[in-house]
Amino acid sequence: MIEIAKEIQTAAYLFASILFILSLSGLSSQESAKRGVLYGIVGMIVAILATVMGRGVEGHIYIIAAIAIASVIGIMVARKVEMTAMPQLVAILHSFVGLAAVLVGFGSYLDPSTQNLSGAEHTIHLVEVFIGIFIGAITFTGSIIAWGKLDGKVPSKPWSFSGLQLMNLTLLVACVVLGVLFCKAEGTSGMLYLGIMTAIASFIGVVLVMAIGGGDMPVVVSMLNSYSGWAASAAGFMLGNDLLIVTGALVGSSGAILSMHMCHAMNRSFFSVIFASGGGAAKGLEKKAIEGEVTSLNHEEVATLLKEAKSVVIVPGYGMAVAKAQYPIYDLVQTLRKAGKNVRFAIHPVAGRLPGHMNVLLAEANVPYDIVLEMDEINDDMPDTDVVMVIGANDVVNPSAQDDPASSIYGMPVIEAWKAEKVIIMKRSMSAGYSGEDNPLFYKPNSEMLYGDAKASVEKILTYLKA
Ligand code: TAP
Repeated sequence: MIEIAKEIQTAAYLFASILFILSLSGLSSQESAKRGVLYGIVGMIVAILATVMGRGVEGHIYIIAAIAIASVIGIMVARKVEMTAMPQLVAILHSFVGLAAVLVGFGSYLDPSTQNLSGAEHTIHLVEVFIGIFIGAITFTGSIIAWGKLDGKVPSKPWSFSGLQLMNLTLLVACVVLGVLFCKAEGTSGMLYLGIMTAIASFIGVVLVMAIGGGDMPVVVSMLNSYSGWAASAAGFMLGNDLLIVTGALVGSSGAILSMHMCHAMNRSFFSVIFASGGGAAKGLEKKAIEGEVTSLNHEEVATLLKEAKSVVIVPGYGMAVAKAQYPIYDLVQTLRKAGKNVRFAIHPVAGRLPGHMNVLLAEANVPYDIVLEMDEINDDMPDTDVVMVIGANDVVNPSAQDDPASSIYGMPVIEAWKAEKVIIMKRSMSAGYSGEDNPLFYKPNSEMLYGDAKASVEKILTYLKA
């Protein structure tokens, strides 16, 4: 009977693993994303049921109560969260995975049944516990700092000092030494080493993320996603749970691949970002003085420019998400297309605050996929474009990324909006973008500012266009 139950659980775990893989592949395109989410939900339900009903699990009443309370909190938070606050939510959820790995690690170390292990089996278990807690603690505190930075509670500017790399390396070596002492300790006397390592790893998590500037935060968020996967996988080893190992490895590896893609998109070296060894800025250089004058237009003048234009490119950014301007933008696009104009979108890979942020918002407003182009697909067309409308974007159109080696975003590919005949920048003020860098685009002779909330501005332009 016990054997049959075990086999059913293994089959259920296998089925859930397949659903998780299908879920990941579904999430790779907008058309199949909903299906991907559904696979993930079903997979998770199967996984939870197979675990809770598995052999040796007791105290079901407590487990059900915990699941019920957590589900209610989860549903409430998910219903309330604004799309623009999604990255913060993701960051804080990563911190929970990190904390869970730390708690599982301590629990597993103190568990009398693991204390009874001997020889190589015992050593392997201790290594699993040590590594799991190490990754979990870094993920826990790093994710909290990332949440603070994304939420504006911690300054987004990099916090660093000249000996930072050396300090991190020293702390890492100290953790390795503690690990050796821990594995040699008898009984539960290794708790002291484990406690010290947890404190050091928590500190490393804080300084690693504090040292990373706003412009590189996208990579950090996906790196923490990856860390949380490895932490879950380590917890799977400690608990002897195959599904947790597989799922953690899926999250860990897909997060790492995503981080590498993002680094590539931002022309950053993967290691220089995660070890915060300087973003793009060359140290000791003076920032280039911005030349030119800022000029602005009103809504009616922008409508006139659009009426005269043959080709229009819209560059959306974080401000579009804040203003929820995607719906009137869809109306604007329809109106211009009906008037025979070639209207397209240019999407920067890190526009907004999370991967695919702009694509999701535009899809939500029913903007057809075929006019939504990636930066690389559209940059060459900029010199032949009559009007570029930069709507709530800033860093992703900053020319300093190409011509100011002292800028923190130097080297990051950007949308070359300034090459168009006319550029209209729609935002509320002259304030800098997320990276904190001023934008010389606003001062170019072919640039015009249109101040105000993006949604209200697009609606006003629409009324003039339709008049
Ligand atoms: P940002 O450079 O942050 O610029 C957004 C601009 O929107 C701001 O300058 C702001 O100017 C304007 N804005 C805000 N609310 C607005 C409103 N209601 N109406 C009109 N404008 C509004 O955004 P971006 O160009 O999309 O670049 C993204 C940045 O975030 C990059 O630095 C990127 O590295 C970073 N980041 C990205 C991610 C991911 S994964 N995509 C994650 C974390 C960080 P005003 O205040 O003057 O209006």
